[in-house]
Amino acid sequence: MLTQPHLLGISDLTGGDIGMILDLAESYVAQGAGRHKHCGGLEGRTIVTMFFEPSTRTQASFELAGQRLGADVLNMSMQTSSLKKGESLIDTALTLNAMRPDLLVVRHSASGAVSLLAQKVTCAVINAGDGRHEHPTQALLDALTIRRRKGRLQGLTVAICGDIAHSRVARSNILLLGKMGNRVRLIGPPTLIPSGIERMGVEVTDDMGAGLAGADVVMMLRLQRERMDGGFVPSAREYYHRFGLDAEKLALARSDAIVMHPGPMNRGVEIDGTIADDINRSVIQEQVEMGVAVRMAVLDLLSRREEVAEGVDV
Ligand code: NCD
Repeated sequence: MLTQPHLLGISDLTGGDIGMILDLAESYVAQGAGRHKHCGGLEGRTIVTMFFEPSTRTQASFELAGQRLGADVLNMSMQTSSLKKGESLIDTALTLNAMRPDLLVVRHSASGAVSLLAQKVTCAVINAGDGRHEHPTQALLDALTIRRRKGRLQGLTVAICGDIAHSRVARSNILLLGKMGNRVRLIGPPTLIPSGIERMGVEVTDDMGAGLAGADVVMMLRLQRERMDGGFVPSAREYYHRFGLDAEKLALARSDAIVMHPGPMNRGVEIDGTIADDINRSVIQEQVEMGVAVRMAVLDLLSRREEVAEGVDV
Protein backbone atom coordinates (compact mmCIF):
# COMPACT_ATOMS: atom_id res chain seq x y z
CA MET A 1 0.00 0.00 0.00
CA LEU A 2 1.39 3.42 -0.93
CA THR A 3 1.74 5.91 1.89
CA GLN A 4 0.03 8.77 -0.05
CA PRO A 5 -3.38 9.00 -1.74
CA HIS A 6 -1.91 10.89 -4.74
CA LEU A 7 1.34 10.77 -6.70
CA LEU A 8 2.39 14.41 -6.78
CA GLY A 9 6.15 14.04 -6.53
CA ILE A 10 9.01 11.74 -5.60
CA SER A 11 9.47 13.94 -2.53
CA ASP A 12 6.31 12.33 -1.02
CA LEU A 13 7.45 8.73 -1.58
CA THR A 14 9.38 6.53 0.81
CA GLY A 15 12.05 4.09 -0.35
CA GLY A 16 9.50 1.36 0.39
CA ASP A 17 6.91 3.02 -1.90
CA ILE A 18 9.47 3.24 -4.70
CA GLY A 19 10.45 -0.43 -4.32
CA MET A 20 6.77 -1.47 -4.30
CA ILE A 21 6.01 0.46 -7.51
CA LEU A 22 9.07 -0.93 -9.31
CA ASP A 23 8.41 -4.52 -8.22
CA LEU A 24 4.81 -4.38 -9.43
CA ALA A 25 5.88 -2.68 -12.68
CA GLU A 26 8.39 -5.47 -13.26
CA SER A 27 5.54 -7.97 -13.26
CA TYR A 28 3.80 -6.00 -16.04
CA VAL A 29 6.87 -5.82 -18.30
CA ALA A 30 6.72 -9.42 -19.54
CA GLN A 31 2.98 -9.20 -20.14
CA GLY A 32 3.44 -6.02 -22.17
CA ALA A 33 5.96 -7.76 -24.40
CA GLY A 34 3.65 -10.71 -25.09
CA ARG A 35 0.65 -10.98 -27.42
CA HIS A 36 -1.98 -10.78 -24.74
CA LYS A 37 -1.46 -7.43 -23.09
CA HIS A 38 -4.62 -7.10 -21.02
CA CYS A 39 -4.39 -8.08 -17.40
CA GLY A 40 -7.37 -6.37 -15.80
CA GLY A 41 -7.70 -5.11 -12.26
CA LEU A 42 -9.24 -1.72 -13.01
CA GLU A 43 -12.46 -2.80 -14.77
CA GLY A 44 -15.24 -0.30 -14.20
CA ARG A 45 -12.82 2.41 -13.15
CA THR A 46 -12.51 5.73 -15.00
CA ILE A 47 -9.24 7.51 -15.67
CA VAL A 48 -9.23 11.05 -17.04
CA THR A 49 -6.05 12.55 -18.48
CA MET A 50 -5.75 16.35 -18.69
CA PHE A 51 -2.66 17.60 -20.53
CA PHE A 52 -2.34 21.37 -20.58
CA GLU A 53 1.08 21.02 -22.25
CA PRO A 54 1.85 18.93 -25.31
CA SER A 55 3.00 15.36 -24.74
CA THR A 56 3.64 12.32 -26.89
CA ARG A 57 5.14 9.60 -24.71
CA THR A 58 3.63 10.39 -21.33
CA GLN A 59 0.01 10.78 -22.41
CA ALA A 60 0.11 7.78 -24.76
CA SER A 61 1.65 5.55 -22.11
CA PHE A 62 -0.86 6.55 -19.42
CA GLU A 63 -3.64 5.80 -21.89
CA LEU A 64 -2.20 2.38 -22.78
CA ALA A 65 -1.51 1.61 -19.14
CA GLY A 66 -5.13 2.34 -18.20
CA GLN A 67 -6.48 0.30 -21.11
CA ARG A 68 -4.28 -2.70 -20.33
CA LEU A 69 -5.69 -2.69 -16.81
CA GLY A 70 -9.23 -2.65 -18.22
CA ALA A 71 -10.21 0.90 -17.13
CA ASP A 72 -12.14 3.44 -19.21
CA VAL A 73 -9.72 6.18 -20.25
CA LEU A 74 -10.86 9.63 -21.32
CA ASN A 75 -8.24 11.96 -22.77
CA MET A 76 -9.38 15.54 -22.35
CA SER A 77 -8.00 17.74 -25.05
CA MET A 78 -7.18 20.81 -23.02
CA GLN A 79 -6.38 22.85 -26.12
CA THR A 80 -10.04 22.76 -27.15
CA SER A 81 -11.61 22.78 -23.69
CA SER A 82 -13.54 25.54 -21.93
CA LEU A 83 -10.22 26.87 -20.64
CA LYS A 84 -10.00 28.61 -23.99
CA LYS A 85 -13.24 30.34 -23.07
CA GLY A 86 -11.73 31.58 -19.82
CA GLU A 87 -12.69 28.87 -17.35
CA SER A 88 -10.14 28.50 -14.57
CA LEU A 89 -8.10 25.37 -13.96
CA ILE A 90 -9.99 24.74 -10.74
CA ASP A 91 -13.44 25.14 -12.34
CA THR A 92 -12.49 22.69 -15.08
CA ALA A 93 -11.22 20.26 -12.45
CA LEU A 94 -14.40 20.57 -10.39
CA THR A 95 -16.51 19.92 -13.48
CA LEU A 96 -14.53 16.78 -14.26
CA ASN A 97 -14.63 15.74 -10.63
CA ALA A 98 -18.43 15.85 -10.77
CA MET A 99 -18.26 13.13 -13.45
CA ARG A 100 -16.69 10.96 -10.75
CA PRO A 101 -13.44 9.76 -12.25
CA ASP A 102 -11.34 7.44 -10.08
CA LEU A 103 -7.97 8.75 -11.21
CA LEU A 104 -6.95 12.06 -12.72
CA VAL A 105 -3.65 12.37 -14.61
CA VAL A 106 -2.57 15.99 -15.01
CA ARG A 107 0.24 17.86 -16.80
CA HIS A 108 0.48 21.63 -16.45
CA SER A 109 3.04 24.31 -17.25
CA ALA A 110 2.86 25.86 -13.76
CA SER A 111 4.87 24.32 -10.91
CA GLY A 112 2.47 23.44 -8.09
CA ALA A 113 -0.68 23.47 -10.26
CA VAL A 114 -1.20 19.71 -9.90
CA SER A 115 -0.95 19.79 -6.08
CA LEU A 116 -3.43 22.66 -5.98
CA LEU A 117 -5.83 20.68 -8.09
CA ALA A 118 -5.41 17.60 -5.89
CA GLN A 119 -6.75 19.62 -2.95
CA LYS A 120 -9.96 20.40 -4.84
CA VAL A 121 -11.01 16.99 -6.15
CA THR A 122 -12.13 13.78 -4.48
CA CYS A 123 -10.22 11.28 -6.65
CA ALA A 124 -6.56 10.24 -6.75
CA VAL A 125 -4.35 12.63 -8.74
CA ILE A 126 -1.14 11.76 -10.60
CA ASN A 127 1.31 14.48 -11.58
CA ALA A 128 2.38 13.93 -15.20
CA GLY A 129 4.73 16.94 -15.04
CA ASP A 130 4.18 20.38 -13.47
CA GLY A 131 6.33 23.20 -14.79
CA ARG A 132 9.92 22.74 -13.75
CA HIS A 133 8.93 21.10 -10.47
CA GLU A 134 8.42 17.31 -10.69
CA HIS A 135 7.67 14.49 -13.11
CA PRO A 136 7.52 11.49 -10.78
CA THR A 137 6.51 8.74 -13.23
CA GLN A 138 9.46 9.67 -15.48
CA ALA A 139 11.90 9.20 -12.58
CA LEU A 140 10.22 5.90 -11.69
CA LEU A 141 10.50 4.56 -15.23
CA ASP A 142 14.12 5.70 -15.36
CA ALA A 143 14.73 3.88 -12.08
CA LEU A 144 13.17 0.68 -13.41
CA THR A 145 15.31 0.89 -16.55
CA ILE A 146 18.48 1.41 -14.47
CA ARG A 147 17.60 -1.39 -12.05
CA ARG A 148 17.03 -3.86 -14.90
CA ARG A 149 20.22 -2.88 -16.74
CA LYS A 150 22.53 -2.54 -13.74
CA GLY A 151 20.94 -5.19 -11.53
CA ARG A 152 20.61 -2.71 -8.66
CA LEU A 153 19.44 0.79 -7.82
CA GLN A 154 21.98 1.82 -5.23
CA GLY A 155 25.66 2.65 -5.08
CA LEU A 156 25.66 3.86 -8.71
CA THR A 157 27.14 7.07 -10.08
CA VAL A 158 24.61 8.84 -12.28
CA ALA A 159 25.55 11.86 -14.39
CA ILE A 160 22.63 14.10 -15.39
CA CYS A 161 23.71 16.47 -18.16
CA GLY A 162 22.24 19.56 -19.72
CA ASP A 163 19.39 21.91 -18.91
CA ILE A 164 18.92 21.13 -15.22
CA ALA A 165 17.36 24.50 -14.43
CA HIS A 166 14.20 23.96 -16.48
CA SER A 167 13.91 20.22 -15.98
CA ARG A 168 11.29 18.54 -13.80
CA VAL A 169 12.80 15.23 -14.96
CA ALA A 170 16.12 16.21 -13.36
CA ARG A 171 14.48 17.22 -10.05
CA SER A 172 12.49 14.01 -9.74
CA ASN A 173 15.52 11.91 -10.66
CA ILE A 174 17.77 13.71 -8.18
CA LEU A 175 15.25 13.01 -5.41
CA LEU A 176 14.70 9.37 -6.34
CA LEU A 177 18.34 8.46 -6.95
CA GLY A 178 19.36 10.19 -3.72
CA LYS A 179 16.69 8.39 -1.67
CA MET A 180 17.91 5.05 -3.01
CA GLY A 181 21.56 5.75 -2.12
CA ASN A 182 23.17 6.71 -5.42
CA ARG A 183 25.68 9.43 -6.22
CA VAL A 184 24.34 12.10 -8.55
CA ARG A 185 26.47 14.50 -10.59
CA LEU A 186 24.98 17.39 -12.51
CA ILE A 187 26.82 18.63 -15.58
CA GLY A 188 25.89 21.76 -17.53
CA PRO A 189 26.71 25.39 -18.19
CA PRO A 190 26.38 27.49 -14.98
CA THR A 191 23.44 29.37 -16.57
CA LEU A 192 21.46 26.11 -16.64
CA ILE A 193 22.28 24.91 -13.12
CA PRO A 194 20.04 26.39 -10.38
CA SER A 195 22.06 28.07 -7.63
CA GLY A 196 22.08 26.16 -4.35
CA ILE A 197 21.16 22.85 -5.97
CA GLU A 198 24.06 21.24 -4.03
CA ARG A 199 21.71 21.30 -1.07
CA MET A 200 19.88 18.43 -2.77
CA GLY A 201 22.98 16.32 -2.14
CA VAL A 202 24.42 16.44 -5.66
CA GLU A 203 27.84 17.32 -7.08
CA VAL A 204 27.95 20.01 -9.77
CA THR A 205 30.43 20.63 -12.59
CA ASP A 206 30.54 22.39 -15.96
CA ASP A 207 33.18 20.01 -17.24
CA MET A 208 31.97 16.90 -19.09
CA GLY A 209 35.28 15.10 -18.48
CA ALA A 210 35.10 15.50 -14.70
CA GLY A 211 31.38 14.79 -14.57
CA LEU A 212 31.40 11.65 -16.69
CA ALA A 213 34.47 10.02 -15.11
CA GLY A 214 33.37 6.76 -13.51
CA ALA A 215 29.67 7.25 -14.34
CA ASP A 216 27.51 4.11 -14.56
CA VAL A 217 24.60 6.00 -16.08
CA VAL A 218 24.64 9.06 -18.36
CA MET A 219 21.28 10.83 -18.53
CA MET A 220 21.00 13.53 -21.19
CA LEU A 221 18.38 16.30 -21.08
CA ARG A 222 16.81 18.47 -23.76
CA LEU A 223 17.39 22.22 -23.84
CA GLN A 224 13.90 23.37 -22.78
CA ARG A 225 13.73 26.47 -24.94
CA GLU A 226 10.01 26.92 -24.26
CA ARG A 227 10.87 27.64 -20.60
CA MET A 228 13.79 29.98 -21.39
CA ASP A 229 13.28 33.70 -21.62
CA GLY A 230 16.60 34.83 -22.99
CA GLY A 231 20.08 33.67 -23.88
CA PHE A 232 20.92 30.77 -21.61
CA VAL A 233 23.26 29.21 -24.17
CA PRO A 234 25.40 30.94 -26.81
CA SER A 235 24.42 28.74 -29.78
CA ALA A 236 23.25 25.16 -30.37
CA ARG A 237 26.55 24.45 -32.14
CA GLU A 238 28.70 25.66 -29.30
CA TYR A 239 26.48 23.87 -26.77
CA TYR A 240 26.90 20.60 -28.69
CA HIS A 241 30.64 21.08 -28.80
CA ARG A 242 30.90 21.42 -25.00
CA PHE A 243 28.00 19.38 -23.66
CA GLY A 244 26.62 17.25 -26.51
CA LEU A 245 27.16 13.53 -25.91
CA ASP A 246 29.25 11.98 -28.69
CA ALA A 247 31.46 8.87 -28.75
CA GLU A 248 34.50 10.80 -27.58
CA LYS A 249 32.78 12.18 -24.48
CA LEU A 250 31.00 8.91 -23.72
CA ALA A 251 34.40 7.19 -23.65
CA LEU A 252 35.11 9.19 -20.46
CA ALA A 253 32.36 7.32 -18.57
CA ARG A 254 32.63 3.68 -17.49
CA SER A 255 32.93 1.32 -20.43
CA ASP A 256 29.60 -0.28 -19.49
CA ALA A 257 27.78 3.01 -18.86
CA ILE A 258 24.25 3.22 -20.25
CA VAL A 259 22.88 6.29 -22.04
CA MET A 260 19.41 7.62 -21.20
CA HIS A 261 17.17 10.43 -22.46
CA PRO A 262 13.55 11.12 -21.45
CA GLY A 263 12.67 12.43 -24.92
CA PRO A 264 11.89 14.38 -26.97
CA MET A 265 15.48 14.34 -28.25
CA ASN A 266 17.28 17.00 -30.22
CA ARG A 267 19.87 15.07 -32.18
CA GLY A 268 22.98 17.11 -32.79
CA VAL A 269 22.17 19.49 -29.90
CA GLU A 270 22.45 17.46 -26.66
CA ILE A 271 23.17 14.05 -28.18
CA ASP A 272 24.77 12.60 -31.29
CA GLY A 273 22.28 10.52 -33.31
CA THR A 274 24.59 7.51 -33.57
CA ILE A 275 24.93 7.32 -29.76
CA ALA A 276 21.15 7.61 -29.34
CA ASP A 277 20.68 4.69 -31.77
CA ASP A 278 23.52 2.51 -30.46
CA ILE A 279 21.71 -0.50 -29.00
CA ASN A 280 24.79 -1.47 -27.00
CA ARG A 281 24.77 1.78 -25.02
CA SER A 282 21.46 3.57 -25.42
CA VAL A 283 18.40 2.43 -23.41
CA ILE A 284 16.16 5.22 -24.70
CA GLN A 285 13.58 2.89 -26.28
CA GLU A 286 13.58 0.68 -23.20
CA GLN A 287 12.73 3.76 -21.11
CA VAL A 288 9.59 4.22 -23.20
CA GLU A 289 8.65 0.56 -22.74
CA MET A 290 9.20 0.77 -18.97
CA GLY A 291 6.98 3.86 -18.95
CA VAL A 292 3.86 1.83 -19.68
CA ALA A 293 4.68 -0.77 -16.99
CA VAL A 294 5.46 1.85 -14.34
CA ARG A 295 2.27 3.78 -15.08
CA MET A 296 0.24 0.57 -14.84
CA ALA A 297 1.78 -0.04 -11.41
CA VAL A 298 1.04 3.50 -10.22
CA LEU A 299 -2.58 3.42 -11.46
CA ASP A 300 -3.08 0.01 -9.91
CA LEU A 301 -1.59 0.91 -6.51
CA LEU A 302 -3.43 4.23 -6.22
CA SER A 303 -6.75 2.66 -7.13
CA ARG A 304 -6.23 -0.11 -4.55
CA ARG A 305 -5.69 2.57 -1.94
CA GLU A 306 -8.98 4.14 -3.02
CA GLU A 307 -10.78 0.82 -2.68
CA VAL A 308 -9.53 0.41 0.87
CA ALA A 309 -10.62 3.96 1.68
CA GLU A 310 -14.07 3.05 0.37
CA GLY A 311 -14.10 -0.08 2.49
CA VAL A 312 -13.99 -2.54 -0.43
CA ASP A 313 -12.39 -5.86 0.38
CA VAL A 314 -9.29 -6.27 -1.84
C1 NCD B 1 9.97 15.52 -20.49
C2 NCD B 1 8.96 16.49 -19.93
O1 NCD B 1 7.93 16.73 -20.53
O2 NCD B 1 9.23 16.96 -18.85
N1 NCD B 1 9.48 14.66 -21.45
C3 NCD B 1 8.81 13.52 -21.08
O3 NCD B 1 7.90 13.53 -20.29
N2 NCD B 1 9.23 12.37 -21.62
C4 NCD B 1 11.24 16.17 -20.86
C5 NCD B 1 11.25 17.23 -21.92
O4 NCD B 1 10.21 17.76 -22.31
O5 NCD B 1 12.36 17.55 -22.36
